[in-house]
Order: sequence, then structure tokens, then C-alpha cells
Amino acid sequence: MKVLVGVTGGIAAYKAAELVRELQRGGAEVQVLMTPAAEKFITPLTLAALSGKPVLTSVWQETAVGDRFEIEHIQIAQDADVMVIAPATANTLAKLAHGLADDMVTTTALAATCPLVIAPAMNVHMWRHAATQANLAVLQERGVRFVAPESGELACGMVGEGRLAEPVTIAESVLAAAGHSQQMAGEVVLITAGGTREPIDPVRFLANRSSGRMGMALAEEALSRGAEVLYITAAKDVPVSPRCRSFRVNTAQEMHAALLAELPRATAVFMAAAVSDYRVEAVAEQKRKKTERMTLELVANPDILRDVVQHRKPSTTVIGFAAETERVLEEGRRKLVSKAVDAIFANDVSGVDSGFEVDRNAGMLLTHAEEIPLAAANKRSIAQQLLSALPAIRNAANAKTWWAHQDSNLEPKDYESSALTD
Ligand code: PMT
Repeated sequence: MKVLVGVTGGIAAYKAAELVRELQRGGAEVQVLMTPAAEKFITPLTLAALSGKPVLTSVWQETAVGDRFEIEHIQIAQDADVMVIAPATANTLAKLAHGLADDMVTTTALAATCPLVIAPAMNVHMWRHAATQANLAVLQERGVRFVAPESGELACGMVGEGRLAEPVTIAESVLAAAGHSQQMAGEVVLITAGGTREPIDPVRFLANRSSGRMGMALAEEALSRGAEVLYITAAKDVPVSPRCRSFRVNTAQEMHAALLAELPRATAVFMAAAVSDYRVEAVAEQKRKKTERMTLELVANPDILRDVVQHRKPSTTVIGFAAETERVLEEGRRKLVSKAVDAIFANDVSGVDSGFEVDRNAGMLLTHAEEIPLAAANKRSIAQQLLSALPAIRNAANAKTWWAHQDSNLEPKDYESSALTD
């Protein structure tokens, strides 16, 4: 298990030495990163001696790998199972909350897709300050795990909360988060994202508002849990994690073909893409000239989700999405049955602060056993809840299949005879 330990500039930086030891006792391979401020409190030499590896202190360090150079912070960020920042100063929390990356620790944290654990340590007033608490809330909503500081006598002489949690407590959280990073090891998750584009002529197309954010949140969360991700995207603007095997498509027909080609390997499919139900029958070869009226003849696209359900292995779990502007729950329930999927996430896309294009979403996860409300939250948090529900979705689908099988084995006369003998 590969653990990145980021050390920032607070008096508690010396405790990073003990944290490295605790993590190693838990079986971790540790790579330490330090900010320039941290070097004022503890030397890189101490942490290098303990971790058995040179400490990374600058984003400008280059590593030669064979005949090419690797960008160190990207490489280690991608390889890690979990990253911990301890101690994390108020300044580092602020930088992380705003996506700033001006040292080795914050730059690596921004590039990492693994779980991130933060153990803050600072003066009690800095800790209680509204700005620090707001930054904390932002990071928490993004799925960052915190090991809360303890109360007691602080280095500044004051008494209150702000003291770094004990290294053994931090190590426990980090090792638990790393366990999380293996939760989906062996799963191959096939995800679709973005809105398809159906050409009208070489310069125009029919499209929809899906940005691909929901799909990418699912992909990043599945990756952070150790799954292999096959990612089919029609989105143009949302960057795709390099850890996904990704396929770019434009039209529904291209998405259909890519999905069926990758389906045999998938253990779970999440259809977060907004697929155009229709395409233009006769796409003009040249740009159509402006006329007073224009009539486009549309033909139905394949229902990709139905075909996925039809061609999947029985062990592959299929989760559809339903984007609705009214009667969200009823439509979701109808699609759960009509599309014969294992679950549907029905989301209301009529608002401006959730659904299409924005970072938040909300809705109802409908399985064959229960209906689980997912309150408005960051898309990463919705993705976490959807992935965590996989075992429940599978149990409900298996139970449904078992009952269907029992029913089909019972001929009408069986009912009669069982009624007589019981
Ligand atoms: O991408 P974002 O901006 O982050 O927005 C996320 C989202 C709102 C697009 C996402 O959460 C979502 O709801 N995706 C499904 C959108 C949709 O097409 O819903 P639908 O109710 O029209 O289709 C139902 C299901 O059938 C979907 O899983 C869809 O992928 C699938 N479908 C639809 C049509 C078609 N021809 N083939 C399909 O497979």
C-alpha cells in the first residue's frame, strides 16, 4: 500500500516522524512530501532516514526514467493508494479549498485521485475562524476525510482545540482510507458521460445540456476505490482522468457501438450519459443554407440501455439514470421496469443548482427493493453514495431474479395442488 505523507509548516511537523513510523507498522510504503515552511521545523533528512526514500520538497525536481523525464508530482499522485497531510496548517487548508497549488504538497494533492486525509493543527483562534471553518466545509463536501485536532495546551501557550491528533489516531484513519481504496478492486466499471451530438450538417448538431460532470465524478470515485474504469464520453469540456481507459464518441450510434464492445468485461455499468433519442435521418453533406423554415426528419436512435441489459452477462449490474423535469419519482419507477435495469437514479433536472452542468446533484436511487433519497450534494458525494449502494442493488436484483424463477417454475396446477396439500 502506497501512502503519501504531506508535511506543512507548523510546530507539530515533528510529529510527522512518528506518523511515518506508525504507517510503516501498518504495512505502508511511505513517500514524504514537504512544503518549504515545513523544512523550517523538521529536516527532510530526518524523514528520509525514517521513510527510506528521499523527501520531495520541490515541484521543480525532475526524475529520469530511462530516456524520458517524469513529472514527479503527477506520477506519485497517480500511484498512491491514499494521501495524508499532517500537520495541515490553516494556510494549506485555504489553498486546498481553493485549488491552489504552489508547493509540492498542495500540487500533489490537486493531482491525486486517491482518498485524501487531512489532520489540521493550528492556534485555537485560527481553527475557529470562520474562514478556516468554511474551507473545512468545502473540503468535507468534496469527500476529504478529516482527523479533528485535539484540545489541550497549544505550542503558543493557549489552551483549546488545535493540537494535532495523535499520530497513531491519524495512521488508523489513513489505513482505513487505504482499505477504502481497495474496496472495488477487481471490479470493472463501465461509465457513460456527457451529451451525445447528432449532426444536422458539417457545422451544426442536435445536443443536450449534459456536461459529463456526473460521469466523471463516478469515474474518479470508482478509481479511488480501486476499480478499473472504462469511460465512454461524449463530453467535450470536462477533463478525463488519465487512469481511465477512455473512449471519445459524438453520436448515440457511436456510444452504442463502444458500449457493446466494452460490455463483456464490465462488472457494473453506470449510464450517466444523456443520449439523444433521435438523430437526423439525412445529414447534409454541405452546410445547409438559411431558409425561412427548415424541416428536419428525425429517426429514433437505439435505446442503448435496453441493449446493454439484453447483452450483458447475468453477473453484470446495470444502473440507468433518469433525467426528469416533472413526476421524477413516477418516471424513475417506470424506467426501472421498462428498461429492465437493476437500479435507476432519478434526478430532477428542472432546477439551476442541481442536475445538468453544475457541480451538484440530487435524486432518488430506485432499486428492486427500496427507494433511497440522495439529498442535494456535490456530484462526487452522489457518486460515493451510488457506488456504496452497489451491494444493495445487487442483492435486490438477485432476490427479484430468484422470485421470478420460482414463479416461472410454478404452473397453475402447482398452485392448485399446493393449495390442496398445504
Ligand atoms: O453530465 P452532467 O451535466 O453532470 O449532468 C448529469 C445528468 C443530469 C446528465 C445525469 O445525472 C443524468 O441524469 N443522465 C441521464 C440523462 C438521460 O438521458 O436520461 P433519460 O431519462 O433520457 O434516459 C434514461 C436512461 O436511458 C439514461 O441512463 C440514458 O443514458 C439511457 N438512454 C437514453 C436514450 C437512449 N437512446 N439510450 C439510452 O441508453
